[in-house]
Amino acid sequence: MIQIDNVEKRFGNATILNGVSLHIRRGDVVSILGASGSGKSTLIRCINGLEKLNGGDIRIGGLTVTNANELAEIRKNVATVFQHFNLYPHLKVIDNITLAPVEVLGIPKAQARQKAQELLDLVGLADKQDAYPAQLSGGQKQRVGICRALAMDPSCLLLDEVTSALDPEMTSEVLDVLADLASNTGTTLIFVTHEIAFARKISNRIVFLDEGRVRVDMDKDQFFSEQGGKQDPRIQRFLDKMDSK
Ligand SMILES: Nc1ncnc2c1ncn2[C@@H]1O[C@H](COP(=O)(O)OP(=O)(O)O)[C@@H](O)[C@H]1O
Ligand SMILES: [Mg+2]
Repeated sequence: MIQIDNVEKRFGNATILNGVSLHIRRGDVVSILGASGSGKSTLIRCINGLEKLNGGDIRIGGLTVTNANELAEIRKNVATVFQHFNLYPHLKVIDNITLAPVEVLGIPKAQARQKAQELLDLVGLADKQDAYPAQLSGGQKQRVGICRALAMDPSCLLLDEVTSALDPEMTSEVLDVLADLASNTGTTLIFVTHEIAFARKISNRIVFLDEGRVRVDMDKDQFFSEQGGKQDPRIQRFLDKMDSK
C-alpha cells in the first residue's frame, strides 16, 4: 500500500534520511522506533508530502507524493496526528472534526456531524462536541485530534509521538483508543512512539531508524526476541535505555 523507495532528505548539508526503503502492506500496524534525531518525524512528514524529497520516491496506493495532483488525492486517504494537537482554537470540537470532511471531501454537513458525533462517542467525548479546544485537557485534545483524522475515513493513519506531551493517565486514555483502532478497524497505522510496551502490544511490525537509515525492519515478535532484534547491540542498548526510564 505504501512504497517508500530509497528516500533521501537533506536539510542544508545534513543528510536526514539516507536511502530509506519500506514497503507497508494494507492493514499493517507499524511502530517506528529510534533515538531522538534519527529522522522519524521527517519520514512521517515525507510520507504525507509535507517535505520535498531530495531523492527516491514514495507511492501510496499507486499515487506518488512528489506529484502535486496525486498528493491532493493521497491527502484524502492518509491522515496524520501530530504531537501537538494543532486544533483550530476558534472552532468548537465538532467543527474541528467536520471541517476537512466537508471542505475537502464534500460530505454533506449533516452527515459529517453525525459521523463526528459517533467518533466522539467512540473516544469517550460525546459530551464535549460544543466545547472549544482551550476548555479541554491535553488528553482530550489529543482524542479530538484522533477523531479529526478518523473523520476523513483514512485508509492510512500516521501518528507522530501523539502521547509524548501527555501525562501518564492521559497517555493511557489515548493509547486505549489507538489499541482499539489497531485491533478493530483494519486501518493501516504507522506510528512513531517511545512507548515500547505499547508498540509491542499493538504492532505487527517494528522499524528501527538509526541516523536516517532503516537499521531493522522486523516482525514484532522477532524484533523483541533474543535471536532477533536483540542480537543487534544498538537495539539492545536502545531497549535497555527505554526500560530503565
Ligand atoms: N526543518 C528542518 N530544518 C533543519 N533541520 C531539520 C528540520 N527538521 C528536522 N531537522 C533535523 O533533522 C534531524 C532529524 O529530525 P527528526 O526527523 O525530527 O527526528 P526524530 O523525529 O527522530 O527525533 C534532526 O537533527 C533535526 O534537527
Ligand atoms: Mg520526532
